[in-house]
Amino acid sequence: MSAEDRELCEAAVKAMEGSYAPYSKYNVGAAVRLADGTIVVGANQENAASPSGLCAERTAMFTAGASHPGTPMRSIAIAGGYKGVPGDEPCSPCGACRQVMAEYQMLAKAPMSVIMVGAKATWKFAKVDDVLPYIFDSFKADMED
Ligand code: THU
Repeated sequence: MSAEDRELCEAAVKAMEGSYAPYSKYNVGAAVRLADGTIVVGANQENAASPSGLCAERTAMFTAGASHPGTPMRSIAIAGGYKGVPGDEPCSPCGACRQVMAEYQMLAKAPMSVIMVGAKATWKFAKVDDVLPYIFDSFKADMED
């Protein structure tokens, strides 16, 4: 793994500290690397009315989109574990977060790599398509106009 990717994984693990997960006690951190090298982090934020909470990945990507508009996202790393301890298995993003990754990859017009961090193994996928086959892309035609 490159030094850049290792740094992104470490940022995702560190971002777990920002998790607010009193209900599930499953803490997740995510770190997004922008095309200019900036790292933007996020963590899951739960809510008493559970659908109102948000995953770490979307928290990170939406923060990146809102605070660095127009700067493409190149990579995202995800780490998570019960009660703040990174799990042995790589932390795998949910389907909704994968769909949001697909949107930002489409906007970037370049692959966004997905890195799933675990204490015993870490997996890197070169592009969102590798973790979300047959991506919904009806918007794509408009974007290419
Ligand atoms: N969670 C994430 O932050 N990312 C995912 O991809 C899957 C799940 C969060 C949501 C919830 O706060 C907790 O993990 C347990 O589901």
